[in-house]
Amino acid sequence: MQITRTGFLMGLAGIGGAAAQTQPRPKMHRFERQPLKVADFDAEGYVLDIGGGGEGIIGRMKPSQVVAIDLYKNELMESPAGPLKIVMDATEMKFLDGQFATATAFFSLMYMQPEVQRKVFAETARVLKPGGRWMVWDAVLPMLADPGMEQGTKGPLFYFEFHLPREVVKTGYGTLWPQVRMDLPYYRSLAEAAGFRIALAEETGGQFRTFRMELRKA
Ligand SMILES: C[S@@+](CC[C@H](N)C(=O)[O-])C[C@H]1O[C@@H](n2cnc3c(N)ncnc32)[C@H](O)[C@@H]1O
Repeated sequence: MQITRTGFLMGLAGIGGAAAQTQPRPKMHRFERQPLKVADFDAEGYVLDIGGGGEGIIGRMKPSQVVAIDLYKNELMESPAGPLKIVMDATEMKFLDGQFATATAFFSLMYMQPEVQRKVFAETARVLKPGGRWMVWDAVLPMLADPGMEQGTKGPLFYFEFHLPREVVKTGYGTLWPQVRMDLPYYRSLAEAAGFRIALAEETGGQFRTFRMELRKA
C-alpha cells in the first residue's frame, strides 16, 4: 500500500477532501516533537530528491539544483517553489542510467513498504553515476509489538522541528506500523543488496530515533 503524507495528515486532523472526511480519524502513537539539525552539504550539478514533495526540505536548501520527484502531484504542489518538480514513481524512474552525482531521500523511505523500498534502492543505484552518493535521513520505525508502543494505534507519528541553515520548519510525519522493524541494520542490508557501499551510518537519540546514511555507488 502507498501512503500519501497529505491524506494521512488530513485524516489525522479530520479535515480535507471527501475521502479524508469519510475516513475515521486514525489513532496514532504520537512521539513528542524533536529538534533535528539538517546541515548544508556540498553538491555539484543536479540533486535528485526522492519523495521530494511535502515540506520539500532538500528543495528549500538547494532550490536551483534539486529535481524533486514524488508519486503524488498534490505533495509536489505543497512544497515551496524552486526545484524542478516531476510526478514520478521512484520504483520506475524515467531517467537514463548514471545521470546524477547526488541523490537524497528525506523521510521518504518510511512511507514505503519493503518491496517498494527494495525497488527504490535498485533504481537509485541505477540513476547515480559511478561514485555517486545517496544521502538518506529517516526515522527508525519500531513495530507495534515493541515495548512502550500504544496498542490499538495505526502507526507512529513523529513530530519534528527541522533546523535548516536558513530556516526552521515544524512538521509531523505519520506512517503505518511496519511488518518488519525498519532500523539501521535493516537499511544497511537493503543498501548492500543494491550494491552500495555505506560511507556513513549514524543514529540520533531522543524521544524517538532517527538516522542518517550516506551511501556510495561502487
Ligand atoms: C514524509 S513525505 C515527504 C517528505 C519530504 N521529503 C519532505 O521534505 O517533507 C514522503 C513522500 O514520499 C513520497 N513517496 C512515497 N512513495 C513514493 C514512490 N514510490 N515514489 C516517489 N515518491 C514516493 C510520498 O508521496 C510523500 O510525499
